[in-house]
Amino acid sequence: MTIMYPPGVRTGVIETLRTVLSGVEFDLLQFAKDSQAQFGDFNYTKFGWVTFYMITDPDLMHEILVERPEEFYKIKLIKYALGPFLGNGLLTNEGDFWKKQRKLAQPAFHSKRIEAYANVMVDYARRMLAGWRTGETRRLDREMMKLTLNIVAKTLFDADVSGDADHVGDLLTRILEASNDRLNAAFQIPDWVPTAKTRQMHRDIAELDVIIQRFIDERRQSGEDKGDLLSMLLQARDDDGSTMDDKQLRDELMTIFLAGHETTAMNLTWTWYLLMEHPDVMARLKAEVDAALGDRPATMADLGKLKYAEMVIKESLRLYPPAASAGREPIHDLHLGGYTIPKGALLTLSMYGMHHNPKVFPNPEVFDPERFSPENEKNIPRYGYLPFGAGPRVCIGNSFALMEARLVLATMVQQADLSLVAGQNIVPKQLVTVRPANGIEVKVKLRKVEKTAVPA
Ligand code: HEM
Repeated sequence: MTIMYPPGVRTGVIETLRTVLSGVEFDLLQFAKDSQAQFGDFNYTKFGWVTFYMITDPDLMHEILVERPEEFYKIKLIKYALGPFLGNGLLTNEGDFWKKQRKLAQPAFHSKRIEAYANVMVDYARRMLAGWRTGETRRLDREMMKLTLNIVAKTLFDADVSGDADHVGDLLTRILEASNDRLNAAFQIPDWVPTAKTRQMHRDIAELDVIIQRFIDERRQSGEDKGDLLSMLLQARDDDGSTMDDKQLRDELMTIFLAGHETTAMNLTWTWYLLMEHPDVMARLKAEVDAALGDRPATMADLGKLKYAEMVIKESLRLYPPAASAGREPIHDLHLGGYTIPKGALLTLSMYGMHHNPKVFPNPEVFDPERFSPENEKNIPRYGYLPFGAGPRVCIGNSFALMEARLVLATMVQQADLSLVAGQNIVPKQLVTVRPANGIEVKVKLRKVEKTAVPA
């Protein structure tokens, strides 16, 4: 098949090498916006020997993710970066095996099941706030990571990691940094090359493995059915009656551990950042939360009254989608959007680029929760807003995440005023998720904390 490229640009091998060796970091978020502005919603860039397709168009997203998903694999780079850590869990698995595992995990994310997690989410948020004091400075991104890690461990594995949350958090942070390095690596160094970083990464993974194995062993020994993800996976039977082996269980749990906390933590972090920068939005949200909750802890039943909180969170997911893009490669040469794309090409479906595409969202850089009011939301193109992806591989935890974000945000707004420490350079950076490159420091001022009893 003759390759027909969409609009784009070629960078020569020498120039590409020079850029790679200069150590200048490639800003994938800015690149998504720039290449779209210059070449449109389906464009390509050839960096030396690598051809990179960028997609920021709702119809093409729909075609690839929903209509023709079986013609694409996830990109190898993701498996290279996350494979040592996540193995063959849901995020990195493919084909019939993925389908089978997804079916097994799905019931744990059923809306009825998730509702039972609401109290844990609120309790852990309140415990965190109970340890905060007026006048303190805190690293918001780290606090949110610790909190969502505790919540995912408690709800899905019934494990209390709050005792070792700092240690688990440190391990995960280092492993994710190593994964990020692998994601950014221009030259993929094979795993058997014993670089200091690779060795440290394998040591950290081994340590985390011991913790995960402890969850599995304890549940096997107790034999109790807690109805959570861990029990469901342990009880799952193949058609021939066989159960999942420990390696696959480990991979699934590790995947949920990772996918289930960092994304939501980043959503909460960016939401707070936007609120601190937009006092008018903050004031309206605070009024909603105070009217809905008063001084009592939030419950599942309050979600119906927290409509503005939902609009704020959705708009934050538009501007800062924690999973900025989905990578796919065609399993064979194919036609797409009027062009021909070769097997194995690197397709970046940039949700970030699409959410900042002025054709999809007018004045895309403006933070405006009203875009998600009931009247306005229906005007957003069906596949123009995809923070959780789409099609069969859509995020399994999307309802979990939206519920957690609303309950945690409401609980925090109820109890604390946060303000940005002056003089910070807050910029988003696409790593495994979109993080604030230098973190975000906030000053805490507690609100009516004395009126609310602290959960044990
Ligand atoms: C704001 C929070 C979240 C965001 C923005 C997010 C985003 C995404 C996206 C975009 C995908 C699809 C990736 C692709 O198609 O290549 C995905 C997949 C996935 N997410 Fe999430 N996610 C979030 C929270 C969660 C939570 C809370 C969990 C679990 C508790 C979770 C578990 C997963 C898993 C297991 C997959 C792989 C699903 C599969 O391929 O079958 N995510 N997520």
